[in-house]
Amino acid sequence: MEHATVVVSGTKIAQEISSSRSEVWRLVQQLRGLGVDVAGHPATGYQLRSVPDLLLPEILRPMVRGTIFDAPFHHFYKVGSTNTAAMSAAADGAAQGTVYLAEEQTAGRGRGANTWQSPRSTGIYCSVILRPALPPSEVLVLSLAAGLAVQAAIQQVDSRLKPDLKWPNDLLIDGKKICGILTEMNAEATRVRHIVVGVGINVNQSSFPKDLQATSLRLVTGSEWSRVELVGALLKSLDRECRHLTEDPAARGDILRRFSENSSWVFGKKVRIEENGAGFEGVTEGLDERGFLQVRTAHALEIVLSGTIRQK
Ligand code: BTN
Repeated sequence: MEHATVVVSGTKIAQEISSSRSEVWRLVQQLRGLGVDVAGHPATGYQLRSVPDLLLPEILRPMVRGTIFDAPFHHFYKVGSTNTAAMSAAADGAAQGTVYLAEEQTAGRGRGANTWQSPRSTGIYCSVILRPALPPSEVLVLSLAAGLAVQAAIQQVDSRLKPDLKWPNDLLIDGKKICGILTEMNAEATRVRHIVVGVGINVNQSSFPKDLQATSLRLVTGSEWSRVELVGALLKSLDRECRHLTEDPAARGDILRRFSENSSWVFGKKVRIEENGAGFEGVTEGLDERGFLQVRTAHALEIVLSGTIRQK
């Protein structure tokens, strides 16, 4: 990375890593297998043709200096689920701010029993450990704030885009899903032990099965995105939201207001809710003070605690 686009001899690299030229060759082959574009061979030297868009700690950590994510970074070329890895590390005492990133997930998880398609190096699969001094009842608000953070990060990279926030945790562009957030926690009745916020963003995928109703940033804008730039922006905006929620007593009201203002789903949307096998229809009527969605039906004002929401 320090000599990107310059030809560096195999002998020099071997010296730098205290190894042999044949070992350098083997490692370069391994990098090529992972999609890194390296030209050359042991006799003439190697050239990193372009800086690869890999979510490597060496590249990302300097971007998040001074944030709560200036903490251990874990990068996987392949993992079951970054949320599962982060939840288990958090249970073993991993620090607040620890970041888990994967190029590919083989068992990516969505909300409920859903799976999350996680093909190699096209999307962002990122989970972070948080240990805020909050009661469990505030975690929904934190999760809504994570949606605002993703929205801000996408807008920071491309100001033409304004993804819609679908309560509680989806981001949509043109009605198609671009991001999902899975917030999991380990808590006592009155105290959160740890929270893992897992963010999946469809970035450079070139197609989706039609029944998924999903799209990617590349499909929407017509050009390839830098995942590194977007993860950097995401961690910085997540840091801002987390600090705001934990340090400012007025933050909860502010987050609920901003979520409502930036979502077409919170007020006046005709919806059908499927919750625990039962369903009902109505019109959305804002968030209650805890962040739950209120829906006016023919008979009452219903509070949606979880479940699937569809536009009618
Ligand atoms: C949803 O929309 O249902 C939530 C999807 C969350 C996907 C992300 S990808 C990173 C993290 N690891 C997982 O297994 N899931 C979350």
